Amino acid sequence: MTASNSTAGAVHVENVSIRYGAKFAIQNVSLTIPPQAITAIIGPSGCGKTSLLCSLNRLTDLIPGCGVTGLIRIGDTNVLDRRTDVIALRRRVGMIFQHPNLFPMTIRRNLELPLREHGLQDRRGLQEQIECSLTDVGLWTEVRDRLDRPALSLSGGQQQRLCLARALSLQPSVLLLDEPCSALDPQSTSVIEELLLRLRATCTVAVVTHNLAQARRIAERTALLWPDTNGSRLVECSDTQSLFESPQSRVTEAFISGKVG
Ligand SMILES: Nc1ncnc2c1ncn2[C@@H]1O[C@H](COP(=O)(O)OP(=O)(O)O)[C@@H](O)[C@H]1O
Ligand SMILES: [Mg+2]
Repeated sequence: MTASNSTAGAVHVENVSIRYGAKFAIQNVSLTIPPQAITAIIGPSGCGKTSLLCSLNRLTDLIPGCGVTGLIRIGDTNVLDRRTDVIALRRRVGMIFQHPNLFPMTIRRNLELPLREHGLQDRRGLQEQIECSLTDVGLWTEVRDRLDRPALSLSGGQQQRLCLARALSLQPSVLLLDEPCSALDPQSTSVIEELLLRLRATCTVAVVTHNLAQARRIAERTALLWPDTNGSRLVECSDTQSLFESPQSRVTEAFISGKVG
């Protein structure tokens, strides 16, 4: 069994606006994040990239005063519908943050906890899934002899891969990553990039990155958000090569050439 073998679903975002109190972070954003591909989300700091990502598995519910309107569909699920089972949604839509957010526990416990929470109790099943997820992220041979050591004793790159293993162990169909490599060295970055390139075969992948070269290296599609008077708008969402080589908007052109942002 591979770590993420559930059917990947497209993510459809229609007229989504996100506000904190009365202040809009994004306004009327519409885009499709297709399955079995990597979509990069780029834009200057504070333009709502993290907010958009967090709305896709309703992590925005956890922020007091945050309101999300519009329509988000992932596969058959109407994400913003109040009746949607949020726990099941977050199982299918995994999230990786900029800084590895491991529990201060052993490597094994970090992987076991979410699996147990989602109903896997049998010891053998747990062990098999742990090995499988660690293998998927290329960590198994590095940590097989130290599964009972603290997860926080791993290097930054290994910790980020462990976070990925933990997300993948739940076999998500969508994986959201918020600047996953910004705290990593080039070597660890390239390990994560290769992993994402493999994962896109089975997952819908959206990655927020401030690294334009990374978007060009790994993403089939790229979306640019840009601040406007009351919340950021989507400037352009195109296949990556056209966005960088023949941008549709002057804003895109200025941003990718480093003149603004
Ligand atoms: N928890 C929050 N409470 C209030 N405002 C927030 C919160 N999180 C983000 N914002 C605001 O929303 C806007 C978008 O933030 P964010 O989504 O973090 O942008 P990005 O990830 O592109 O840097 C910013 O103006 C930011 O100050
Ligand atoms: Mg952010």
